[in-house]
Amino acid sequence: MKGLWLTIMQALGQKKVKPKPPIYDEQEREGMRRAGRFNAQLLDFIRPHVKAGVTTLELDRLAYDYTIDHGHTPACLGYKGYPNTICTSVNEVVCHGIPNSRPLREGDIVNVDMTTIVDGWHGDSSETFLLEPVTEDARKLVQAAFDAMHVGIDAIQPFGKLTDIGRAIERFARLRGYAVVQEYQGHGLGREFHQEPGVPHYVPKLNPSTVILEPGMCFTVEPMINAGTWRTMLDKHDKWTVRTMDLSLSAQFEHTVVVTETGADILTETENGPKPGHKF
Ligand code: MF3
Ligand code: CO
Ligand code: CO
Repeated sequence: MKGLWLTIMQALGQKKVKPKPPIYDEQEREGMRRAGRFNAQLLDFIRPHVKAGVTTLELDRLAYDYTIDHGHTPACLGYKGYPNTICTSVNEVVCHGIPNSRPLREGDIVNVDMTTIVDGWHGDSSETFLLEPVTEDARKLVQAAFDAMHVGIDAIQPFGKLTDIGRAIERFARLRGYAVVQEYQGHGLGREFHQEPGVPHYVPKLNPSTVILEPGMCFTVEPMINAGTWRTMLDKHDKWTVRTMDLSLSAQFEHTVVVTETGADILTETENGPKPGHKF
């Protein structure tokens, strides 16, 4: 009996030791802004290269060289053993696709996700590119993923709840007839790549987050939206590539944001990429 109580108390205790999400001051936010700006610049750099015929390994090489040439550090490379600079997730791949030698072709949709460390601070963002011409089904899904990200970002309010984000995204996706991936979430970031708070893109029935959003909190919003089931499977061989369980299409966009006194600032807005309201 004593043993059982100990286990329960430890389980409860473990929840309590979850570190509080860091709140960054002006100077720290400036570090995050610079990292976000560079990461956006990297996405702008890669955009014209995402064409039919290019391999995702070639894109990876370009991103690596660009990052190094600017004196910065690719965050993914070597992170938990990840082998490359970027993640390239094609069609039914939900996230963490490893660049390979298959040329992209017309009709593909590919998410390119990149993370850079600039002077110790992380910037993390991604875009799904359409290799035109694509099917209308693919276009609609990509549109929904982009809009879902912005619906989530728009739900951020100072001293609002973190669960407002997931609730807004889930409601929006359901309205468009799509499913939201549950096993992978947004995340706090700063000096660490993945830190508190976790940012689910739905509202978990069990233990929903109690985090209150505060000015100075930094995290990503990066919903993965599926045409079919929300369920996913991890590649048995590479242990990275995540696919939809039914092999239906999946699309994703990601921004890094900082909570402000009035809402949220996007730190990874690109110059040439899609802006809120964009039609694909
Ligand atoms: N950039 C991804 C994210 O949005 C993480 C990639 S995991 C890695 O969180 F191992 F590939 F780095
Ligand atoms: Co990312
Ligand atoms: Co991320």
